[in-house]
This record gives sequence, C-alpha cells and structure tokens, in this order.
Amino acid sequence: MRHTTITATTKLCAIIGNPVEHSLSPLIHNAAFEHLKLNYAFLAFKVEQLREAVMGIRALNLKGVSVTIPHKVEIVDYLDDIEEVAQKIGAINTVVNQEGRLFGYNTDWSGAIKALEEKIELKNKKTVLLGAGGAARAIAYGLKEKGTDLTILNRTVKKAEVLASELDCLYGGLERVESFKPDILINTTSLGMYPQVDDTPIRKEFLKSMLVFDIVYNPLKTRLIREAEQNGCATIMGVEMFINQAALQFELWTGKKAPVELMKNVVVEKLS
Ligand code: ATR
Repeated sequence: MRHTTITATTKLCAIIGNPVEHSLSPLIHNAAFEHLKLNYAFLAFKVEQLREAVMGIRALNLKGVSVTIPHKVEIVDYLDDIEEVAQKIGAINTVVNQEGRLFGYNTDWSGAIKALEEKIELKNKKTVLLGAGGAARAIAYGLKEKGTDLTILNRTVKKAEVLASELDCLYGGLERVESFKPDILINTTSLGMYPQVDDTPIRKEFLKSMLVFDIVYNPLKTRLIREAEQNGCATIMGVEMFINQAALQFELWTGKKAPVELMKNVVVEKLS
C-alpha cells in the first residue's frame, strides 16, 4: 500500500542482479521511502546485459542503484568514480547518480564494520574470518583498514592465500578454525544458510569468550549464533549487516538518515 503517489517527479531507485526475484531490497527501501514520505520508488530489475543496463541508468536518470550478484565486480568498469576502499576491494554494491555522473560505493564493507564497531573496538583484535568469496573480500579490506590482526581461513585454501597476499595477513584451511582462540570470529561462508540450517563451521565447545558474527541472515539465528549465545559469547546476526548496508545505500541516495529500526522490523517480519 503506497500512501504517497507516484508522480512525474518521482525519483527511481532499483536493484540490478540475476536472479533478483527474492531480493528484500524493494521491500525495505520502499518502506523507508514511505515512512519518510519521500517521493522515491524502488524496483527490481533482472539484468543480463550489464553494460546496456548502466547506459540505461544514465539515459533514464535513475537516482540510485543497488548492485547484486553477479554484477558487483564487472560494473566497476562502467562507472565514473569509485570510492577508495571499493577500488581496493574491486567490487561495488551501490551506484549514486549525481547529475549524470555515476559514483560507485561498497556498503557491504562499511555495513559489516559498523555492526562490529557497535560491539567492539577493532584495532589489534585477533580476528578469524571464515570464507574467501565476495563478501569475505569486502569485510577483510574493512578489517584491515581498522587495523585488526587478521587470519583468513577457507575451504579452498588457494582463494584464502590470494586474498591474504593482497592484505598481507595469515591464511589457512577452514578445518584449522578450532586451533585459534580469536577475539572475533566472522563467518562469511554459506554454512548454516537455509535450507542447510544444521550446518556450522565450528563445534560449539570452541566458541568461548569471543564475539561471533555470522553474515548469514536466513535463518535469522543460525546454529552458529545460537550455540555462541548458549556459551555466553557476544553475537552479531547477519540481519544487522544486511540492514546497515541497505541503510547506508538509502542515505547515499536520499541524503536523509535512514529509518533503521523500521527497515529492520520489515526484514525480521519477512524472515520470521
Ligand atoms: P559471497 O558473495 O556470499 O561471499 P561466494 O563468493 O560464492 O559468496 O563465497 C562463498 C564462500 O562460502 C566461499 O568462501 C566458499 O568456499 P570456497 O571458496 O571453498 O568455495 C564458502 N563455502 C560455500 N559452501 C561451503 C561449504 N559447504 N563448506 C565450506 N565453505 C563453503
């Protein structure tokens, strides 16, 4: 139900990806636009031809775009300017159209770091990052910016090695996770994600006196998060990062403070 009316001056934002049918972005951004009575609308576009889609953003003067799998890396080549950390990461998830010039940002890293910094000071903390895919890359660069003592563990060790060599940090196989006693443990692998909800990257008895952050947000509470809580660890659920990255996008597009609680409620209600 829209309370504002779409008019000839409505600004359009969109998510582009493939597949995109299950994205929660239209739901949360439209709810936030409505809440602040902003004359914006948000749609999802399944995009196969990325270069043409970016030409479309310019030609149709879309205000902002959220970029998802599989376009986060390739789109870097088609934009006018990229924020510094995103350049290093080599991937963006947010486009802002400023009078025809397209700027690229990566709010995955900043959304994750914001969620962590709400719980802990990051500098010099022993941090073990599980996974070496796209999300791990973004978070690893953010952690390095903040001066953590980082180790990257991944099932495919070669991928951990490549990322670790860019960041000058330690790496190893995922099976080594139980030999560390980190201050912070971050899961970016898909272990525990719906429908494999009984999977977890580490046995419960090794979750002791650490902050555990799982970027998986479906289910809302993964087995990893539940077991960490049962052992008295501080935890961060994936939904926090998901909301933070969306809130930062919203602020880049509108210049207004995002209604974070409302956005979170919409997602939690949808996933519950
Ligand atoms: P994302 O964009 O979410 O990071 P991705 O780039 O496909 O997605 O990365 C998925 C990550 O989950 C990788 O680190 C992957 O490990 P590999 O590099 O060995 O493929 C990890 N992953 C996926 N399924 C896994 C499983 N069953 N066990 C362990 N790691 C897994």
